[in-house]
Amino acid sequence: MTQVTLRDLTKKYSSQVKAVDHLSLEIPAGKITAILGPSGCGKTTLLKLIAGLVPPTSGDIFFDGISQLDIPAEKRGAVMVFQNHLLFPFLSVGDNVAFGLKMRGEPPQLIREQVLQILELVQLAGYEKRQPSQLSGGQQQRAALARALITQPRILLLDEPLSNLDANLREEMRELIFNLQRQQGITTVFVTHDQEEAVMLADQIALVFEGVLQQVGEPRAFYERPANLATARFFGANNILPGFDREGRIDTASGSLQIEENQIPPGPVNLVIRPENIRIVTEKGDRNNIIVGRVRSCIFAGTRTRMKITVEGALLEVVTDASPLRCYQEGETILLFLPPAKLWAYPAKESSV
Ligand SMILES: Nc1ncnc2c1ncn2[C@@H]1O[C@H](COP(=O)(O)OP(=O)(O)OP(=O)(O)O)[C@@H](O)[C@H]1O
Ligand SMILES: [Mg+2]
Repeated sequence: MTQVTLRDLTKKYSSQVKAVDHLSLEIPAGKITAILGPSGCGKTTLLKLIAGLVPPTSGDIFFDGISQLDIPAEKRGAVMVFQNHLLFPFLSVGDNVAFGLKMRGEPPQLIREQVLQILELVQLAGYEKRQPSQLSGGQQQRAALARALITQPRILLLDEPLSNLDANLREEMRELIFNLQRQQGITTVFVTHDQEEAVMLADQIALVFEGVLQQVGEPRAFYERPANLATARFFGANNILPGFDREGRIDTASGSLQIEENQIPPGPVNLVIRPENIRIVTEKGDRNNIIVGRVRSCIFAGTRTRMKITVEGALLEVVTDASPLRCYQEGETILLFLPPAKLWAYPAKESSV
């Protein structure tokens, strides 16, 4: 099992395009790490840097503490399964999967055995004679995975392995990758722009915007304590209340609010709260953090109800877990409780993506 360390890694394709920007990251051995971020943020470039397919402009890459900068791609033992060009179209599935072992000059009998074994593993037993064009998209993805796995890589790099698949196949493929990884314990890095996918599959997520690492940690942390406003918004915490931090209390247009954790200096802030963390209450009582709103819309969505509520200074989205007995009417006044532990403050000068 191989631990990967990226140290202050930068990749510039030209003076204008900085695809990866001073990025440092520990990729733990034998775990699944997701590189998550919007299109063009440098995810594929990061995988290519690890694989040795493009050289970094500066910084270093270590496998188990050994710098890989002078080690060519084919000697690194990191194999990459690409976003698009999955299989050689002119080779059968079996020959595609056998490719890596043939290149190494392994004996034909051993290659045959291993191909059959690995095809079985990715649930493609019996498909070895087919051409890639005779496979479905999901089967092609699995054959490409088999082609990578057969070489027993130290590190498996998967570029958007679930894209181009419909919902059922995505789930099947997700389970397959998860189970294979757990069985074989290969250090796996996969790239996605889909936060749900990252959360379901990864032990660790590294969120990247414009080549810059925003946050790294367990999936749960991105919901419970996003590192910055942009991260909070990317993970669906889209309610923003501008305010002014007066050491402990935050003055907003909707009143003065308390937050549990306050690590930022006094000054202008943005308060952020997830839609499902806002609670509708019927009376104020002696509680803090109750604000008054007016219902803009209320949509019954099966097991949940989604509301837009105008408060002084902001428009908030509220998602209630169970459906209320009735939908609220447009224009109705409503009381909202914003729990101090679920309200996060970020300096207002932080950019938002
Ligand atoms: N060979 C190249 N030459 C010049 N610029 C490149 C090259 N490859 C990528 N880029 C640029 O580098 C940036 C990052 O590209 P990259 O392919 O790593 O993004 P990505 O996060 O994988 O995007 P997507 O989710 O769309 O696949 C983009 O601005 C892209 O245009
Ligand atoms: Mg890409």
